[in-house]
Amino acid sequence: CTATEQPQILTGKTLTITAGPTREPLDPVRFISNHSSGKMGYALAQAALELGAKVNLISGPVTIKAPAGANLINIESAEQLLNESLTYAAHSDAFIGCAAVADYRAANVATQKMKKQGDELTLTLVKNPDVVAAVASLEQSRPYTVGFAAETQNVESYAKGKLKNKNLDMICANDVSKSGLGFNSDHNALTLYWHNQSLELPATSKTEIAHQVIEQLAKHL
Ligand code: CTP
Ligand code: CA
Repeated sequence: CTATEQPQILTGKTLTITAGPTREPLDPVRFISNHSSGKMGYALAQAALELGAKVNLISGPVTIKAPAGANLINIESAEQLLNESLTYAAHSDAFIGCAAVADYRAANVATQKMKKQGDELTLTLVKNPDVVAAVASLEQSRPYTVGFAAETQNVESYAKGKLKNKNLDMICANDVSKSGLGFNSDHNALTLYWHNQSLELPATSKTEIAHQVIEQLAKHL
């Protein structure tokens, strides 16, 4: 069905969605990152736009095109992601943290290209801020806050732990041990958890599952 045929259940609502990987610089030519393609976050943005929402899409470096009509904000590091997220979240009805945030960054970023030296190199890393938890702890204008959890084991208990510890309203858990689903794939299967209920969304295209996630989210706005 086309955008115009879909019930505009998110008219008047603003969603801020984070997507893609972060890049944590080591020196002027190197960084630490991960395999996030951005596909899931971009599909969520597209679905929200089709249902009538205004969408801020805060994105790390990806190769796919932003959906037409999204307000695209490009970031690289987790700290940049945090700053933009706090700015936009305070003016949003919902925030979805779909970005694959690097958990650590270099303690010191070299100002010049690092030169090859001994046979081993030890890097000192420090923990990055937790973006979705920071949004969920906003005291004023806190949006309905949704996280993602990509797990390879104990999916339910880890996801429920993140829902609680990060003070989220909803979490979308993704079993990435299942081949062909999740990272870089065009397909995904998710289980949605709230504090008092859950819902399984069986494997389907990221486009379709994004619609299902946004429709569930819309019920709470
Ligand atoms: N997240 C975040 N900021 C971070 C790390 C994670 O906002 N520094 C968000 C992700 O965008 C996702 C959720 O937290 O919505 C869960 O991310 P995940 O990597 O699964 O959880 P972590 O808390 O980082 O725990 P771990 O990697 O040890 O499983
Ligand atoms: Ca992590």
